[in-house]
Amino acid sequence: MDNRPIGVFDSGVGGLTAVKELTALLPHEDIVYFGDTGRVPYGSRSRETIIRYAKQDIDFLLSHDVKLIVAACGTVSSTLPASAGSALPVPYMGVIQAAAQAACALSQGGRIGVIGTKATIRNNAYGKAIRGVRPEVRVFGNACPLFVPLVENGHFSEKDPIARAAAEYYLTTLKRERIDTLILGCTHYPLLHGLISAFFDYQVTLVDPGRETARAVQTYLTVHGLLNGQTQPGSHRYYMTDSAEDFCEVASVFLSCDIHADAQQVAID
Ligand code: DGL
Repeated sequence: MDNRPIGVFDSGVGGLTAVKELTALLPHEDIVYFGDTGRVPYGSRSRETIIRYAKQDIDFLLSHDVKLIVAACGTVSSTLPASAGSALPVPYMGVIQAAAQAACALSQGGRIGVIGTKATIRNNAYGKAIRGVRPEVRVFGNACPLFVPLVENGHFSEKDPIARAAAEYYLTTLKRERIDTLILGCTHYPLLHGLISAFFDYQVTLVDPGRETARAVQTYLTVHGLLNGQTQPGSHRYYMTDSAEDFCEVASVFLSCDIHADAQQVAID
């Protein structure tokens, strides 16, 4: 047993999709969440800047004595080298591997699409992870930089005309390629699930990296005897680098609950 919290971070609110899945699978775990809302987005920044920010985010979580760190951010997961994780005093997980494995298991026709931020698509981390599991699979990547601000501003319903126009703009080439599976390679994108499903007029299996990573965390903690032994529901603390009020407003959409009492703005740089 290990009753220390799980640390989760993202450039902003997107990683809350992973928190939601973790909470459902591991209701007794305490969670410390860090969202770098003062510096979001990471996805359009250089590799050097993303790595510098990610290291500061990790140091912040380590200062809260976490037992495991999840980079619930496609951009960080595809940019920070795996060796950075092995240098840490606690286990470190990104979202790429679990999502790639799920997509490979689910894809019937071997045509997998990946959408994400510019940095995630540029790094081709998903493509490499997928081909590491199934070398014969064809991977089609597309950067969708407008999806993050759309989600953060509440434009994610399948009836929303702006969101529909963006889906048409970003996903038409993937539809033309007849992908059968699509990795929502940025942790903001699961909120666009309904919109994206509706856009494809044939069956496409959508993979949520937050959900797959939550399953991987559950397996890791179970196998290594690191689950929290408490019987009451876990406590959650949320830290962010811009307004707590704004964070809580968007978070209520992601988590379907009010987190005001557990949220605090901090400075980390
Ligand atoms: N949540 C981040 C990701 O998964 C996207 C936001 C950003 O660009 O920082 O890539």
